[in-house]
Amino acid sequence: MLTAALIATGAEIVIPLLTKAAIDGPIAGAAKRGPAHGDGLLLIIGVAALALGITDAVLNMIRRWITASAAARLEQSVREDLYAHLQRLEPSFHEEWQSGQLLSRATTDLSAIRRFAGFGVVFLIITVVSFAVIVALLIGLNPLLGLLTAAVFAPVTLLCLRFERGYRTLSRRVQDQQDDLATNVEEAAAGIRVLKAFGRRKQASAAHLALARRVYQTQASKARLRGAFWASLDLVPNVAIAMILLLGALAVSRHELTTGGLVAFVALVLQLVWPVEAMGYILATGQEAATAAQRVYEILDTPPAITSPAAPAPPQRSRAACELVLDHVQFRYPGSPQPVLRDVCLRLVPGETVALVGATGSGKTTLLHLIARFADPTTGSIRLNGTDIRELPLPVLRSAIACAFEDPTLFSVSVKENVMLGAPGAPDAAVATALAAAQAEFVADLPWGDQTRIGEQGMSLSGGQRQRIALARAVLADPGLLLLDDPLSALDVHTEAKVTAALGEVLAGSTALVVAHRPSTVALADRVAVLDEGVIIATGAHRELLEGCPRYQFLMTSDLGAGVRG
Ligand SMILES: Nc1ncnc2c1ncn2[C@@H]1O[C@H](COP(=O)(O)OP(=O)(O)OP(=O)(O)O)[C@@H](O)[C@H]1O
Ligand SMILES: [Mg+2]
Repeated sequence: MLTAALIATGAEIVIPLLTKAAIDGPIAGAAKRGPAHGDGLLLIIGVAALALGITDAVLNMIRRWITASAAARLEQSVREDLYAHLQRLEPSFHEEWQSGQLLSRATTDLSAIRRFAGFGVVFLIITVVSFAVIVALLIGLNPLLGLLTAAVFAPVTLLCLRFERGYRTLSRRVQDQQDDLATNVEEAAAGIRVLKAFGRRKQASAAHLALARRVYQTQASKARLRGAFWASLDLVPNVAIAMILLLGALAVSRHELTTGGLVAFVALVLQLVWPVEAMGYILATGQEAATAAQRVYEILDTPPAITSPAAPAPPQRSRAACELVLDHVQFRYPGSPQPVLRDVCLRLVPGETVALVGATGSGKTTLLHLIARFADPTTGSIRLNGTDIRELPLPVLRSAIACAFEDPTLFSVSVKENVMLGAPGAPDAAVATALAAAQAEFVADLPWGDQTRIGEQGMSLSGGQRQRIALARAVLADPGLLLLDDPLSALDVHTEAKVTAALGEVLAGSTALVVAHRPSTVALADRVAVLDEGVIIATGAHRELLEGCPRYQFLMTSDLGAGVRG
């Protein structure tokens, strides 16, 4: 690519020298010795110039092809790395970063990098090389004039340095402001129902407009800076040409320079105009690419906090029901003053189903997240079949556990593909069984059955339908340890009773920890653990606890209407 570019530039530079040869040789000769003298030489020079012109065009075309595809490949590979890294990062990273920040980095910034990689880098090298070659040729033609010309171009360097500094700050600002804009658009789309229901469209538009105006203003200052810089760049070659015409004519009259030499001189200096102007463009895209790369690296340089151990524990059977031990687990969210979990001790024997009961906000979801290793306990340990989960390779841990979370996340693929996320490659019969266990018979009534594509975030399904598909996904995984976070909260009592009965059979093969708010869900469990103020204050059978644990009684009896009272 670079070879093609350099040869093409070389061809361009040689053309003025041929012009000089033509003027000083055949043309000057004809003037002295009469027409038709030296026609043969002129023809050769003409053909040579034509050949050089064609070479230049063809090589430039080849260079464009190569660079464009190389740049596209570069963009793709950075994009792959970025996506893979985002997948490796723990959930708390994604909570901390706004969606727009990630979005604009994965799109706008990568394009900026591609633009510079595609054209900027090659231009930069060509510009520097051709500048050096042309100045050397100019000095060869006439040392004094050549050096003077070089001196006129010297301030370009200073200009560039000043421009770069200012432009870097502005491009970073624009790119950061675009993050906020992207987040705003994303949230408005996701929250459209809330905005409409409360009639807050105007306020939302106003907030969006304010953000968009901020981006516009920064873009405008960027354009102003670029405009002033490019204009001053334009000025330099023009000053040089005026100077050359004046001093060059003087030199020709004193026979220090041939007429052909002067023409070649001007033609060569004209060839500097474009590289110098290109310099402005290169520096601008270069700065944008640099800030873009910096922003992408802010993500790539964030090390994942949750990683597989360097020396993993020896492998264990992952399919059999697991034993789960929570040993004095304490957890504090980064930045929050109080620990959510203070001292949680609990043991689940293989095959046991334990219901986790606690007031809202008591840390039940947090506890499940620790077991799935979305975060590590601040102190204490979680052991699966006797091994600390931090010593298990992540794939092993993740294949031993399946979860259904509070907000059932579905992807915009078919129902079946959503369920099969639990066990890729599971046979159709297993998928059907899992759907049946979750009482998701409604799937059969969807337009294309389990092949029906679900809308973004499962929006086309009801809350309870989404919950049952997420449940089927966890059931299909048939894990050693099942974590269910209030899996039946959106179901009516009759459906809930059916799911409970079916789940009872499914759960028999797995160890399960089920977060429950309602006595009917608690009925699934062999045993209940009560979480209060960051500790497990009591464990035991439902009926025992109702009698012996006032806190449990309080939590359960506030729901008397749906009561399954032991
Ligand atoms: N990412 C987070 N950063 C800081 N604090 C958090 C975070 N997530 C949850 N919390 C806090 O931790 C506490 C426990 O939250 P958690 O979601 O575990 O409660 P929960 O018992 O599942 O409640 P619910 O029954 O309403 O689902 C809450 O006070 C909550 O505000
Ligand atoms: Mg919760």
